[in-house]
Amino acid sequence: MTMIELIPNTNRGAAVDTSAYGFDATANVRRLHESLDAYNVTPLIELKNFKGVRSIFVKDESHRFGLKAFKGLGGIWAIYCVISRELGLTNPTLEEIFQHRDRLADMTFVTTTDGNHGKGVSWAAGLFGCKSFVFMPRGTVEVRAQAIRDAGSAMVEITDLSYDDCVKYTARLAAENHWHLIQDTSWAGYEDIPAQIMLGYTTLAYEALAQMNWRRPTHIFLQAGVGSMAGAIAAVFAETFKNNPPRITIIEPTEVACFYETMRVGDGLIHSATGNGLTMMAGLNCATPCEIAWKILRYYAADTAAITDDIAADAIQQLAKYGIVSGESGCAGFALANAALDSPELRRALELDEDSIVFVINTEGATDPDNYQCIVRR
Ligand SMILES: Cc1ncc(COP(=O)(O)O)c(C=O)c1O
Repeated sequence: MTMIELIPNTNRGAAVDTSAYGFDATANVRRLHESLDAYNVTPLIELKNFKGVRSIFVKDESHRFGLKAFKGLGGIWAIYCVISRELGLTNPTLEEIFQHRDRLADMTFVTTTDGNHGKGVSWAAGLFGCKSFVFMPRGTVEVRAQAIRDAGSAMVEITDLSYDDCVKYTARLAAENHWHLIQDTSWAGYEDIPAQIMLGYTTLAYEALAQMNWRRPTHIFLQAGVGSMAGAIAAVFAETFKNNPPRITIIEPTEVACFYETMRVGDGLIHSATGNGLTMMAGLNCATPCEIAWKILRYYAADTAAITDDIAADAIQQLAKYGIVSGESGCAGFALANAALDSPELRRALELDEDSIVFVINTEGATDPDNYQCIVRR
C-alpha cells in the first residue's frame, strides 16, 4: 500500500555540542579526501520550481570515488584515523603513511554492512594495503557482495543473521582476532570509530554548502538507516546556521523505521523498529538507531517520515528524467519531497510553500543494477 506516515519529534532533548562538525574543525577530513586520486566534488543539481517549491537541490553522491555511494567518505576517514594512531603519526599525508607498508599489510579491518559501507571499508583498506573482512545480513543480493570484493581488499560473507545480530557477531570476531572494527553505528562503549565515520560525511555537506553559495535551505530531507549520515549532516547545518537551522525530516522505509518508533514512543531513548524488515531500500534496512546520531537528531530533527517502497520507486523514475541515477536508498530523501508535494495535507505538515528550498542527498546510484533497470523500465 502506498503510504507516507509522518510523526513529529515531540521529545527534543537538550541542545548538543556540534562544534566538532564545524568548518574549521573538519578541515583535516577534507584535506584527506581532497588528497585522494579518486576525489572529485560530486554534482549538485538544482530542480527549480519543482512541484511548487522554489528549488530542490540534489547532491548526487552516485559519483563519489567511483563507489556509487557516499559511504566511502566515512570509511576512509575512520581507517585513516586508526592507521595514524597505530603508526604514531599526527595528521600524516598519504605518502607518510605509505612509508610503512609492512605495518599496513599486518592491519585488518572488519565490518558489517548492507552494502555501501562495506564497499567503502573494502576500498579504503585496499588503498592502504590492509586486509579487510566484510559480513552481510541475510537476504543480501550477491551483486552487492561482489561489488564489495571488487572495490578493494575485502573477503565478503553473506551470513544468515539479521543486521543487528551480524553487527554483534562482527564485533565479537574483531575482539577475538585483534582486528579493527569499523562499524558505522555506535553503542555504549563503542563510540570513537562511528564518531569518526560521521565526521567523514561532513565533506559532502561542506561541498554542497559551497555549491549553494552558502545559502540556507529551508528544509533538509535525510534518509536514515542507523542515522549516522543524517546526524552528521544535521550537525553541519546546525553549526553553519546556528540561530536558524533548516527544518530537518528523517526518512525511513515503513517496515524498518527505527527513528519513527523512537519518536513515536517519545521517551527520549532509542527504540528499535517493529516492522517486518522487508524493503528494497537495503541501505536503510537497519533496525536500531545509532546512539550518537540520535543525540543530534533528537534535538535538530522536526519529524520522521516512513515511506513505502513504491514511493521510492516513483522517485527513482522521476530522478531518471533529470538524468540522475538513484538507487533504492539513494532516492529516499527526494522521494519524500516528490510524494509530499502532491498532498496538500503533507505540504502543510512539512511547512512547505513556494519559498521553500529543499536540500536532499542522492546517497547512492544503481548499486543493484538489475533492480534499477526493472524500476526505470516499469
Ligand atoms: C545509500 C545509502 N543511503 C543512506 C544510508 C543511511 O546511512 P546511515 O546508516 O548512516 O543512516 C545508507 C546506509 O548504508 C546507504 O547505503
